[in-house]
Amino acid sequence: MLLVGPEDNFNIRLAKDIGARLVTVERRVFPDGEVCPRVSGDVRGQDVVLSMRMEAGSGSPNRYLMEVLFTLRNLKEHMGAGSVTLAMPYFPYARQDTIFRPGEPLSSKYLGELLEAAGADVVISVTVHLHRIGGFSELFSRAKAVNLSGFEALASKLKDLPLKDPFILGPDTESIHWAKELASYCGVEEFDAFRKERDVSTGEIRTYVKELDLAGRDVIVVDDMVSTGGTMANAVREARRMGARTVISAFVHPVLAPGAVDRILGAGADVILAADTLEWAGSKASVVPSIAEALRVAQE
Ligand code: R5P
Repeated sequence: MLLVGPEDNFNIRLAKDIGARLVTVERRVFPDGEVCPRVSGDVRGQDVVLSMRMEAGSGSPNRYLMEVLFTLRNLKEHMGAGSVTLAMPYFPYARQDTIFRPGEPLSSKYLGELLEAAGADVVISVTVHLHRIGGFSELFSRAKAVNLSGFEALASKLKDLPLKDPFILGPDTESIHWAKELASYCGVEEFDAFRKERDVSTGEIRTYVKELDLAGRDVIVVDDMVSTGGTMANAVREARRMGARTVISAFVHPVLAPGAVDRILGAGADVILAADTLEWAGSKASVVPSIAEALRVAQE
C-alpha cells in the first residue's frame, strides 16, 4: 500500500503508522487560483491511500476539492493505481445535507457522487456532520464509506488534564450527541446542551440557554466544528456567566473562519482544543491513530 499526499507531519506520521511509503503531492496553485496537484512518484498497480486535508481559515473548500478530485482522477485514469482509498478527515459541505430553501443544492450528496465518479473506492472521514440523514454511506452509491469519531482524539488529551468536577456542554440541540459521545470517551458523567436557532437567510445565531449548575466547575463546551465561532462563543460566554472555573472549547474540526479564535477566547475560553482534521497549527489532538487503525482494518 502507498500513501499519497502532501509531505506534512500528518502524512509522515500516518505513513509510519500504516507502514507505507509516502508519495508526495505538490499542491501547485497558479496566480489565477487554478490548481495543479502533482503526484511525484510511481503508483502503477498499487493500492493507494490518498490523504489530503483542507486548510483551516482559508475560505477555500472549493480549491481543496478541485485538488482532491483532480488527484483522484489522475491516480485512477492516468497513473494506473489499483484501488484508491480517500482519507478526507473533514468532509466539506456536509452541513448542506438537506434543501433548506427551495432552489438550493443537496451539496453533501453531490460531493459524494463527484468523489465516487473521480475514482474513490473507499472514503474515510471523521465525525461527518450527519444530522438529517441516516449515515455517511447515504452520500455514495458504490464507494465504501467509513465515518470515524474525532471525539476519541479530543478525549485522549482531556484525560491528561486535572479536571475539577467536569461538565460537558453542547452549544445547540444537535450537539447533545457530541456531548454524550465525548462524555463516554472521557468517563465524565454529566453533560447537557443548549438550544440554538440560526436564521437560514442571514446566518444570525440565537442561543437559548437553560440554567445549569456550573459554578466552580471545569466546563468543556463541545461541538463537531467551529466555523465563525459564533455558536461556540455564545455557549462559552454562558458557561462563564454561570460561574464555571475553567472553560475548555473543544471541537473536532477547526474550520475557523477569520476571527473565530478571537471570538471564542474573547467570550472567555481558557483553552482551545481541536483535532488535526484540517491543517491548523493550533491543533493539539490527532486523528492519525484512528485513521491508521481504520486502514489496517480495511486491509484485513
Ligand atoms: C452546526 O450544526 C454545527 O454543529 C456547528 O455548531 C456550526 O457549524 C458552527 O458554526 P459557527 O462556528 O459558524 O457558529
